[in-house]
Amino acid sequence: MNIAHALQQRLAVALSGLTPEFTKYASLVRAAQDSRHGDYQANCAMPLSKEQGGKPVDLARQIVERLELGDMLEPPEIAGPGFINFRLKTAWLAAQLRVMAHDDRLGVEPANRPRTFVIDYSSPNVAKPLHVGHLRSSILGDALTRILRFQGHRVITDNHLGDWGTQFGILLYGYKQLRDEAAFQADPVRELARLYLEVRKQFKKKEQEDDDGPIDDPVQDACRRETAKLHQGDPENVALWRMFMPHCLREIEQIYNRLGLLPFDHTLGESFYQPMLAEVVDDLAAKGIAQESRGAMVIFFGDPEKVPPSIVRKSDGAFTYTTTDLATIRYRVEQWKPNAILYVVGVPQAVHFKNLFAAARRWGYQDLELEHVAFGSVLGADGKILSTRKGTGSLLEELLDDAIARAAEVYERLNEEARQRGEEVPEFSEVEKRAIHEAVGIGAIKYADLSQARTSDYRFDLAKMTATDGNTATYMQYAYARNRSILRKSGIDERLLRETPPTPELPTAHERALALMLLRFPEALAAATTDYRPNQITAYLWELSRTYSGFFTNCPVLKAESESLRLSRLLLCDLTARVIRQGLDLLGIRTIERM
Ligand code: ARG
Repeated sequence: MNIAHALQQRLAVALSGLTPEFTKYASLVRAAQDSRHGDYQANCAMPLSKEQGGKPVDLARQIVERLELGDMLEPPEIAGPGFINFRLKTAWLAAQLRVMAHDDRLGVEPANRPRTFVIDYSSPNVAKPLHVGHLRSSILGDALTRILRFQGHRVITDNHLGDWGTQFGILLYGYKQLRDEAAFQADPVRELARLYLEVRKQFKKKEQEDDDGPIDDPVQDACRRETAKLHQGDPENVALWRMFMPHCLREIEQIYNRLGLLPFDHTLGESFYQPMLAEVVDDLAAKGIAQESRGAMVIFFGDPEKVPPSIVRKSDGAFTYTTTDLATIRYRVEQWKPNAILYVVGVPQAVHFKNLFAAARRWGYQDLELEHVAFGSVLGADGKILSTRKGTGSLLEELLDDAIARAAEVYERLNEEARQRGEEVPEFSEVEKRAIHEAVGIGAIKYADLSQARTSDYRFDLAKMTATDGNTATYMQYAYARNRSILRKSGIDERLLRETPPTPELPTAHERALALMLLRFPEALAAATTDYRPNQITAYLWELSRTYSGFFTNCPVLKAESESLRLSRLLLCDLTARVIRQGLDLLGIRTIERM
């Protein structure tokens, strides 16, 4: 059960006699900042009194009088100018916790109106080294997919590869002019990566867009001609493109595997839409959405001086990123009939998406939610742009390797410290250890990424990411494993604890606070979905684990004063572990039973 929603429903009933807009006012319920003032607070009396006149305090009193308290609520208090403070009955909390213990979904009800989402994420430009933006898109998109699916929505994932761009001109030129055939036979991915970098090195000037006109750079010019030939269907270049593609795909697959991403439902790159583009532009023209302007076909958005128009066909006949994206929207709607399409793409493409969505709405897609789930940049620990140490090879591979190496160090250090304290440290084989290092290293990267407000930039700082005392995956993974070890030591039959849970006793403030925090898991998920922000989940997990440590330092579990208290504390431990595990799982982060 989502407690905030349950409170809002009760409040809506109480408000229904007072205002026609009772749902709007009822939604103003928040978790209390300070537990001394209660568990939740309603702030509706102030705005309502502005609208209706009268003192907010009097209104608050009227609302409280009409409120059905049932077995859920203590009589609410009115504070300050007219805040209504709610306190849940402890017996009610205990009963809810028992229900939660019994529930595989930990109290998260499936959406009552499931929606269909298409999520467009990762979407790298293949045949170029992946950059960290694609790492961020992959991690975020993967987490959103898991979160929405868990809530009962239908999610179709689509990797919109950039597989038709100018990078292929570079590869075609490199392959024809500079290839080392033996190296290509032995390791095509590696040789293609080398060729890409080698050709780029021969450019005299920074890479320019085609529209910037002719340039005095013979190699870059030759690459452009190769791209143009490919796009015109030149048989040799098309055949080479077909030969390159599986190698390019294998390279990104490797990264996806290491990251443990969900498999994509579809991988329909830009090339897939090429046959549709001419017709898309004709249709846009026929409907008066695109117009001719200096030989090109463009879509205007008001004054072209203020908002640059989007080109859908250049004067040389070439189609654009926007044309492809419009064709993609049409295809997705025809195929999957989604309610929403989410684009998990960096902030720099904000204008592209704003214009794309405006064009799509004119084209007839008014009822479709189109959302740019934008994210900021990933910088180096020094605040500068990230680049490879070696200057060659894949930056992403290097970051993953570094994270795993750091995780290994942290793990060994903690084990050493535990040994020095005379604690027992589990003995693992090298293979098992390696699995732990990977789970910790990859988890650290993902958690650091997801715990940021997504539109902010952040620094790739491995020391912070693997800190054992902060809001990190490492901390959560250890909290989980410690909890599991307590349950093992207790000798309790876990299945029984879950199937026939005791009604927990919550005699201390620590236990009560932990119970409430556990029951707030559904609220965290709802918050993460509203605005597509997984950091709502990490923030919740962090608060949960702090509440848990308060409980754990103050309330002996294995040595509780009575058997019933021991049982109910074990239940709290077990639920904490389950929520952490489920929460991390929704972020695509693995937990480990023993570390
Ligand atoms: N390939 C693009 C890039 O790397 C991202 C594509 C995002 N998706 C889309 N439908 N435009 O910048």
